[in-house]
Amino acid sequence: MNVIVVGAGRMGLPLACAIAESGALVTACDVDPAIVDAINAGTSPYDEPGLDAYIARNHAAGRLTATTDTTGAARDADVVIIIVPAHLTPDRDIDYGILRAASEAVGRGLRRGALVSWETTVAVGGTRRVLIPVVEQASGLCAGRDFFACFSPERVKARFVFEKLRETPKVVGGYDAASAEAGAAFYAQHLGARVINVDTLEAAELVKLSGMIYRDVNIALANELAAYCEAVGEDYWRIAEASNDDDETRLLFPGIGVGGHCTPVYPYFIIRDGERRGVMQHLAIAARAINDNQPERNVERLARAWAPLHGRRVHILGLSFRPDVKVDIFSTAYPLSTALRARDAIVTLEDPWYSDEEIRAAGFEPACAGRDPMDAVILNTAHGAFRNPDFAQWRARGIAAVLDGRNGWDREAVERAGLLYLGVGRGV
Ligand SMILES: NC(=O)c1ccc[n+]([C@@H]2O[C@H](COP(=O)([O-])OP(=O)(O)OC[C@H]3O[C@@H](n4cnc5c(N)ncnc54)[C@H](O)[C@@H]3O)[C@@H](O)[C@H]2O)c1
Repeated sequence: MNVIVVGAGRMGLPLACAIAESGALVTACDVDPAIVDAINAGTSPYDEPGLDAYIARNHAAGRLTATTDTTGAARDADVVIIIVPAHLTPDRDIDYGILRAASEAVGRGLRRGALVSWETTVAVGGTRRVLIPVVEQASGLCAGRDFFACFSPERVKARFVFEKLRETPKVVGGYDAASAEAGAAFYAQHLGARVINVDTLEAAELVKLSGMIYRDVNIALANELAAYCEAVGEDYWRIAEASNDDDETRLLFPGIGVGGHCTPVYPYFIIRDGERRGVMQHLAIAARAINDNQPERNVERLARAWAPLHGRRVHILGLSFRPDVKVDIFSTAYPLSTALRARDAIVTLEDPWYSDEEIRAAGFEPACAGRDPMDAVILNTAHGAFRNPDFAQWRARGIAAVLDGRNGWDREAVERAGLLYLGVGRGV
């Protein structure tokens, strides 16, 4: 079986490796020659646990190669998986530009009888209305008659890919019943995960988007309850732990905001389409507003509970949107900095995953807590490196307050060192 994975990114490359591991001959296709060269040298372009070994093993066994020539690779492919990113419009609706380009390159080489599976998250109807026609036009073939077409959302996340690929059920929907079955059979054989055939492309698209909205709405609920706990002097974390003990409640973690390319983005695919169809998604809209307001709300709390921020040196720990990854798209570091600068604070940032040049390029002045002079510190990303700061040393260096945006620190330890502790969901 010849499989090509178009988009050898943080998701596509581990997926290519997992499929190669099952015995298929896999070609990873990417427009970035540096990624292609790394794979063809048997090395990993990303820091994903286990990826080095997977690439080395499958490359050495001749089961994994890479190319920038997607069309050429598609000529020999029995199965094509497309997992390139999707850009967003200024309105955070989906921009199909990259998906179209990748689908067109595939279409130019696609052979009769192949299966094409899209895994990039798209709006409901996007595969049928936008992407399949691109392949049909470029190939002169007809979906359903000449090739199988399915959508199967990628539901695992970077840094946990190999751990999750086999245990996360693979949802598949097809252009028609035969396509859905072809997709389900492929994934069952080559991923080892349980497969859920939801029949249609649209159902499979909606599974992913519903999961994202569920998450965003529940984080918003946690954030609102956290604000209430702060107001009445209770500790959200104790309340949630006890509340979650009834086998029915699943209160999530509140925090200083939601970042990344998934949760703050995908709800808009349904929100925007709902607006067009006259089916307003009130809860999803409210959740987005609540979660987007977390940085501002917490900076305001800091200003009220501690001191006006004008002229204060406030240091942000973490540029990444999630612990121990180097991805800062829609990171809450950005709105935090906007909220701080709006109050005339002097903002600095540190993140062990980024060089000083990268931090500057992101619009921040690099600094180091415990070394450089600063007045307050905000924990934005719960990187392992930030787990156990020396609070006494911080105090000695002049830091007076911390805003623990990720419930990452022991409140008593902070207060024992003489610092003001502010935590999301925790009364002062
Ligand atoms: N990263 C995650 O945690 C995650 C989780 C679930 C789902 N996803 C889905 O996977 C998609 C891809 O995410 P990712 O993290 O792998 O992205 P990524 O940015 O790490 O990688 C995308 C790759 O696609 C390549 N590419 C761009 N245009 C191309 C083209 N025309 N032809 C071939 N290759 C092209 C890029 O060079 C890049 O290497 C996301 O859009 C999302 O829908 C991602």
